Amino acid sequence: MASISQQPNRGLELNVANVSHQFYLHGKTLPVLNQVSLNVRAGEFVALLGPSGCGKSTLLRLVAGLDLPTSGDITEDGVALVAPAPSRVVVFQDPTLYPWRTVYDNVGLGLQTGKKVPTDARSRIEGILQRVGLTEFATAWPSQLSGGMAQRAALARALINHPRLLILDEPLGKLDSLTRIHMQRELVDLWREQRFSALMVTHDVEEALLMANRVIIFSPRPAAIIDTIVVDLPYPRRRSDPRLTALRTQALALLGAESTLEEPT
Ligand SMILES: Nc1ncnc2c1ncn2[C@@H]1O[C@H](COP(=O)(O)OP(=O)(O)O)[C@@H](O)[C@H]1O
Ligand SMILES: [Mg+2]
Repeated sequence: MASISQQPNRGLELNVANVSHQFYLHGKTLPVLNQVSLNVRAGEFVALLGPSGCGKSTLLRLVAGLDLPTSGDITEDGVALVAPAPSRVVVFQDPTLYPWRTVYDNVGLGLQTGKKVPTDARSRIEGILQRVGLTEFATAWPSQLSGGMAQRAALARALINHPRLLILDEPLGKLDSLTRIHMQRELVDLWREQRFSALMVTHDVEEALLMANRVIIFSPRPAAIIDTIVVDLPYPRRRSDPRLTALRTQALALLGAESTLEEPT
């Protein structure tokens, strides 16, 4: 395992206080979040686990600033969070690369939030492509990438602007199990090295415990927090670590599941 050369902590402090949210569906109210309060400290990795359809993606959309909660407050570093910002980037399960742009140009899109393209664009794109192991594929089209490589390109596009909070919605959910294991490690290495805050939804209990400092467990919709598991284990973590296995049993019991969980959403 290569040693991680750490940058200064640039994570933001996220605070979600008494957030409830509802949608309106066919003239009826659909409560989705019920008095959710949580925080992510600067540089912390928090994972969210809960049954399919409970409201996890909705919560991430609120944290991304894509929607406003029906009630409650969300702040970043103590300031009300009301709109999307480059400091908070979302990576979805589907890498959503533009098929008509090369990997290099897809990653470069992350830099073009305003009209100006930074003068150091080229070195930044090349640097992040190297970091995620895609240098050789800079000129490839998305259709020429494997699932894992496409998700690495999406991560590179998200990280190129140095986000302070990386929001991950089942980012590894579509990958085969071996690729997924590799990507879990790579993502943890990136997080430890670049020191952003991370908030990740996953349906995989083991993944949450391998990656996060804390795992927050939600009830079925409307999502309310059932419990929080603190994962006070050093990185890199091993799946076979008996402490991790014990936490897994605890998490599964809280989710009311013995061995199987939800389908990916
Ligand atoms: N824009 C929307 N309008 C109406 N209902 C929605 C909307 N987005 C999500 N929902 C509903 O909110 C609930 C929670 O969805 P979601 O947050 O995607 O769940 P999860 O990510 O936990 O699987 C679901 O019942 C879903 O149908
Ligand atoms: Mg979801």
